[in-house]
Order: sequence, then C-alpha cells, then structure tokens
Amino acid sequence: MDLYARLEEAASYLRRHTDFAPRTGLILGTGLHGIVDDLQLHMRWDYSLLPHFPTTTVEGHNGALLMGHLAGEPVVVLDGRFHYYEGYSASELTFPTRVLCKLGIERLFISNVAGSTNPAYRAGSVVVVKDHINFQPDNPLRGANDNRLGLRFPDLLRAYDPNLRAAAARQLSHLKQPAHQGVYFGLQGPNLETPAEYRMIQRLGGDLVGMSTVPEVLVANHMGVPVLVTSLVSNECHDTDRLTPTTLEEVLAVAKTGGERMRALWLAMLAELVTERESGDEDT
Ligand code: HPA
Repeated sequence: MDLYARLEEAASYLRRHTDFAPRTGLILGTGLHGIVDDLQLHMRWDYSLLPHFPTTTVEGHNGALLMGHLAGEPVVVLDGRFHYYEGYSASELTFPTRVLCKLGIERLFISNVAGSTNPAYRAGSVVVVKDHINFQPDNPLRGANDNRLGLRFPDLLRAYDPNLRAAAARQLSHLKQPAHQGVYFGLQGPNLETPAEYRMIQRLGGDLVGMSTVPEVLVANHMGVPVLVTSLVSNECHDTDRLTPTTLEEVLAVAKTGGERMRALWLAMLAELVTERESGDEDT
C-alpha cells in the first residue's frame, strides 16, 4: 500500500469516529506533555489503535492522538513522538505528522528540547526556531514523490513560518521572556556531542542542537502546512572548556520547569488565534 493510501486510511478512520475539525496540530516533545492537562478533551486514541501508525516493542506508553479544545482552539495533538535513533526511518516516524496535515490543519506547532551552542541562550529558556541545518542521515521525502501530497523539490525559504514566529516573539515579550530566534542543528543521536562537535555546530551557524523535529518540519512543508517550532534549552554547550556531563535526569528536570514557560507561550498563541478569528468574523 503506498503512502497516500495509508494516509487516507488513517485519516478516514479518524473521520469515521468523529466530525471534530481541528484547525491547529500540536506535536508535544519532552517537557510539554503537561499542556494536555489544559485540554478540553473530545477524543483520544492510543497510537496502537490507529491504522499504519508506527508501533514500538517497548512496553507501556507508546503515545496517543488527542482531539479537543485548547484555549478555545480546536486542536489535534500528537502526545508522544518517534525518533530516527529509535530505529524508524524518517518516512515511518513522520507518518503521524502527515496524518495531522491530511486532516486539514491550518498550522502545526512542534516542541522539542535542545542543547544551546549560543551563549545568549540559558538553560530553561524557550527559543523560537527560525531555520535549521539538517545533518540527519535520512530524509522523509526520499523515494518516489506523490504529487497529491506535495512537490518533488519543496522550497524551504519559509520552512519556519515568519508570521507564526512573529506571533511567538510578541507573546514571549508579553510574558516578559527573551524572544530568542535561533537555528536548529539536527543530528541523528542518540549520543550527545563531543566538545569538538559542539564547536563545529557553533561555527557552522547552529544555535541549538537536537535529535528530532527536522523530519516533521520537512513533511509539513511538503504538504503546505505552516510550522512553528519552539525549543526548550535543556543544557548549555557553548563554552566547551567548561562542559559538564549531560544526564537524562538533568534534561528532564529543566524540561519540567522550562516546560511551564513553553506551555504559557503556546496557550497565549492559541488564545490569540481564536480572538483574531472571532474579531475577523465580526468584521465580515
Ligand atoms: N545534543 C543533542 N540533542 C540534545 C541535546 C544536546 O546537547 N540536549 C537535548 N537534546
């Protein structure tokens, strides 16, 4: 079965079960799961119930697709994402993202945690991604292109939507936080980087480094959906003479406190979308 047919099957499964029409899609990375508590839940499916979703052999929680209202906005949420380092191909791990796009979302918000190679970004801060450098070894667009999904050679000049970035910067300053905009350097992981690699990333123009996000951004752009990415800085790796080992516990602890900032940012942005739409409706 080709990609288009698999997507149709997954999307029509969801449509058969609900007529809920989400306008914004959300991918929750490490640190942002808490935003689910704010969701006025309409429907929830474990990924294992959904046609063609990646499966995992790891026991327990595999992730779920949720629909509901968040700050008044109808959203569809991927709570749990897949990574290349887990063994999935870039095409497999982006299938859930493509399903959200197929459902007709008007924009996609993506979150992640990342190391900062920019001395201005402190651990715990939120950075709006303005561009990326892709050093991941696989590309979800590799292989035969289906013109019904998008172009063979998608342009990436506006891969990170300027209007969404401006809206995020505006809300960050309302929240009295620095409105950093940086370049995300995508690597495959799962190991972190050597000091020489952190220096390379800095010299090549990366401000943030991480192991996710780039494949999802590529498929959303392929399907014409505007993207916002916000990164939570979990560890500082700009001064390589003073690096200390990064542990998962440390990353998760920072993600917990910093995650509250990201949650406040996303809720404010969603509320603004609703307000803008309502005032637009009144004008017409
Ligand atoms: N490198 C790569 N990925 C990461 C890092 C890092 O330092 N921190 C969080 N994710």
